[in-house]
Amino acid sequence: MILSGKSRVAGVMGWPVEHSRSPRLHGYWLDKHGIDGTYIPMAVPPDRLEQALRALPALGLRGVNLTVPHKETALLVCDQIDPLARRIGAVNTVVVGPDGALQGSNTDAFGLIENLRRNSDWRADDGPAVILGAGGAARSACVALIDAGVESIRIVNRTAGRASELAGAMAPHCEAIAWDRREESLAGAALVINTTTLGMTGQPPLEIRLDALPGSATVYDIVYAPLETSLLAAARARGNPAVDGLGMLLHQARPGFEAWFGVRPDVDEDLRDFVLQDLLVD
Ligand code: ATR
Repeated sequence: MILSGKSRVAGVMGWPVEHSRSPRLHGYWLDKHGIDGTYIPMAVPPDRLEQALRALPALGLRGVNLTVPHKETALLVCDQIDPLARRIGAVNTVVVGPDGALQGSNTDAFGLIENLRRNSDWRADDGPAVILGAGGAARSACVALIDAGVESIRIVNRTAGRASELAGAMAPHCEAIAWDRREESLAGAALVINTTTLGMTGQPPLEIRLDALPGSATVYDIVYAPLETSLLAAARARGNPAVDGLGMLLHQARPGFEAWFGVRPDVDEDLRDFVLQDLLVD
């Protein structure tokens, strides 16, 4: 790729950043659409995030994605925060406005719901949802489901205090449930989402029997490495619809790409395969 003086430049800031799939994903779209631009990984230590973000307008960069551990700090640095990002409590996309202002938004909830809608027949009025976990990913999931119209959400987490805190922040839609009641919490649910790190390569497995879960309920794991987690395999084995987490990663990237590079990109099988090849070499 040869850049010109007019090239549009964006990237991802993380610490570390080596494992981010975003350069591969945005690189695919840049190539596909023949855009004069580039998307670079930027290893930014936490104590330099503010400096790095503040430098974007002066350097003429279009903006950045933020990954671990920067998403919460960015909320304090950006000049303008989208209301959705404020509710989620984290920024994953920064766009440098025409006046040089840093506009912070969060596209994780969009990515989660878009992936779910495109890959299942789930509808918000199908019934209660169960969210396993109460971290940042669970918070995005809660906001996404509430905005989609889900009336009732059960938040099940190992640390009870985190579950009640999240349920309180998302009142009146959520109730907190103890981790040892996770199997009972599935009764009558229309959707279960795993937002914990359990089941991820290198992490302990997610131990949960699905006996109480209705056969029509959709099971969604936001873990994408491995793509087919034991939760999804167990769901498919008993006939439940199952949705993997790779689509969420792909869809959450779309709004940023459009803002920086001026083209609305889409997610197709070729893109999934391209990103998947990279996951398989890990
Ligand atoms: P993120 O912001 O990506 O969601 P996080 O805040 O570290 O990440 O949250 C990880 C989630 O996985 C939490 O809900 C965590 O439970 P705790 O709040 O009790 O820490 C959950 N988790 C991680 N390891 C777990 C384990 N061994 N058993 C049960 N839950 C676990």
